[in-house]
Parts: sequence; structure tokens; C-alpha cells
Amino acid sequence: MINVALPKGRLGEKVYKMFALCGYECPSILENNRKLIFENEEKGVRYFWVKPSDVSIYVERGAADIGVCGKDILLEYEPDVYELLDLNIGKCRMAVAGKKDFYDDNTQTLKVATKFVNVAKKYYSGKCRDIDIIKLNGSIEIAPILGLSDVIVDIVETGTTLKENNLEVKEEIFPISARLIANKSSFKFKTEEIEKIAEFLAEQVKDND
Ligand code: PRP
Repeated sequence: MINVALPKGRLGEKVYKMFALCGYECPSILENNRKLIFENEEKGVRYFWVKPSDVSIYVERGAADIGVCGKDILLEYEPDVYELLDLNIGKCRMAVAGKKDFYDDNTQTLKVATKFVNVAKKYYSGKCRDIDIIKLNGSIEIAPILGLSDVIVDIVETGTTLKENNLEVKEEIFPISARLIANKSSFKFKTEEIEKIAEFLAEQVKDND
């Protein structure tokens, strides 16, 4: 049995469809209910819907053998897992954003609001820029508007949230896409099965290109 942690939401549904096309379908997952665990015994697969930022925790600790999460999560938390494949979906970018009239003249400590504390620290320490981190858990875009921070470090997908709040991208930090990850000991003991899934998925990634 392969245990798969899927990120709850639109991305997870896309990922499930890719797994189903590889022969690991579990039709009950598409039923509209609030169940979080779905199993297809015949196909030897069990899916869990988890919060996207928790996928790597389930996989790192072996509660799931494999999972799919964004590169942002891997760079922020650096979980001890294998990154097997770039699925080339869920594409967005990590960026610094701020009010249109904000310009960083480097004279004061920069106030940075973010969910991605480690990413922000690493980025600014690479530029030798002093920052004051303000850790938030969501709706980060409000911070510069209310003067809580000078800038934010956050995910930008379509750019709509920034635009509708009169903010703009100041610097791009890195591109993001969804990655297939595996627990290290699962990979050792279920190598064949996990590699088979990774190969099937890689074929679909090629077809999507
Ligand atoms: C993310 C991110 C931005 C938004 C960007 O938020 O933090 O707020 O998506 O998307 P856009 O460029 O397409 O507008 P999410 O929906 O994860 O909610 P959050 O407020 O909890 O971070």
C-alpha cells in the first residue's frame, strides 16, 4: 500500500487526476464529502487530504510515503525528504512586494511581513540587508497598507491580490511549482512502486509541456 499526502484544494485535485491517469484511481475521492482519507485496496493506494503546508511533515515523518507540495514549502522548511519530480503545475513565484510609492533607500532596517520567515531571512542575508521580520499567517498584503511593514515576501500567482490592493512586485526571489516528494525510508523499502509512480507522472509532465 502506498500512502499519498495530497494538498487540499485545487492543486490537490489536479494532482489526484494525474495519479488517477497513472492507474491509481480512487473514485470515492471525488465524492462531495468531508472525508480526509480514501483508499483503493485493489490498486494499493491510500490518499490523505492535508493542508498544503503540512504535506512535507507527513512525508518526512513517514505517515505518508509520498506527497506533493510546492517548492516554497521545501525551501522554507527544508524537510528531510527526497524531491523526485517537478510536476510543472501550481506554478507561481516568491516575490518581494510593496506599495507602489515605496522605495528601499537602505537607510533603515527593512520591515518585512511574511509567512515565509526562513526564505525571507535567507534572501535578505544574501544581500546583507538588515531586516525586522513580522511573521503573519495569511492576508499578508494588508501589512504594508496599514504600515505594519515596508514590504512583504509572499507568493504571487496571477498578481490579482497585489493589484487589487495597490501593491506591486519589487523583486522576484524564485519560481515555484509542485514537486513529488518521498519519505527516505519508504523510498528504500518501496523503491519499485515509488519509482513506477514517479515515471508514470514524469510521462504526463512531458505530455503537458
Ligand atoms: C496566496 C498568497 C497571495 C495570493 C496570491 O494566498 O499568499 O495572497 O495567494 O495569488 P494571486 O497572485 O493569484 O492573487 P492564499 O490564497 O494561499 O491565502 P493566504 O492569505 O492564507 O496566504
